[in-house]
Amino acid sequence: MADAQTAGRPEAVTGIGPGTDEAALLAEGGLRLDVSGAVATITLDRPERRNAMTFATWRGLAAIGRSLPAEVRVVVLRGEGPSFSAGIDLGMFSGAGGGFPDTSDPKAADRLIAELQEGYTWLRRPDFVTVAAVQGHAIGGGFQLALACDIRVAADDAKFCMKEPALGLVPDLTGTKPLVEIVGIGRALELCLTARTVPADEAARIGLAEIVVPRDGLDGAVRDLVDALLAVNPGAAVATKRLLWQAAENSLEEQCAAERREQIGRLRELFGG
Ligand code: CAA
Repeated sequence: MADAQTAGRPEAVTGIGPGTDEAALLAEGGLRLDVSGAVATITLDRPERRNAMTFATWRGLAAIGRSLPAEVRVVVLRGEGPSFSAGIDLGMFSGAGGGFPDTSDPKAADRLIAELQEGYTWLRRPDFVTVAAVQGHAIGGGFQLALACDIRVAADDAKFCMKEPALGLVPDLTGTKPLVEIVGIGRALELCLTARTVPADEAARIGLAEIVVPRDGLDGAVRDLVDALLAVNPGAAVATKRLLWQAAENSLEEQCAAERREQIGRLRELFGG
């Protein structure tokens, strides 16, 4: 997909060179990174396991976040095969893929989960727009990854499910905040505490997906969106994302002040002064 989106553009340095520890982490975590010009495409690439995730996947995502070249303006998250992601690799419950944190040391366990959450939190950074391309299942940690992105484009076969409470866990990969922000507390409770599956049409209706397209149109819809995002002035895009993400938490007065600050920065850049 990155090739079609960026044909003719010079190859950018990915920031993760072959033979490095980070490259090994990506391979272990079933991740692929393609950076071409202003577009980085991260592919969850364990289709035979429905892109189930391990600690290496989450550490690998964090490593990608730390390494992206400055010229990247759009990051696309996609999954290879029939599903975006089946969430945590269930083998981890039996110790495979790193096992679970030793909770006899709560501080160490807290540090470990915080480290894994870093795989998700960078997706909100204002220097790029993040887009999740979701087909098939997005379950648990997979649903939370889609929620960590700025915009979700879904195929009409997409199915979202917050499975954690059904497994005796809570969603802890940063998903509870965006979920409540998007659907409201009542719907978030209903979705999490029943662990029911939300089909694509309902996802569009309740704001979990911004765009829903037929399954075979997903790549094309993402390409069109990426092109539209890249057509906007880069500085304005960064400033606007920064502004919009703070709107919910700011008072009207604070938000008006933030708008003035950002606009003065834009005017300076455009007209000098
Ligand atoms: N972990 C490990 N392997 C998985 C997996 C997972 N989460 N999901 C699927 N697989 C494997 C299957 O075992 C199967 O392997 P085999 O071919 O060796 O039998 C292969 O992937 C294909 O799976 P299916 O045949 O089931 O494929 P499907 O397309 O019919 O169904 C599915 C897909 C609905 C995702 C189904 O596989 C499923 O329900 N998987 C489990 C989902 C789940 O419970 N995930 C945990 C979410 S909670 C979470 O994520 C917690 C957290 O972050 C902390």
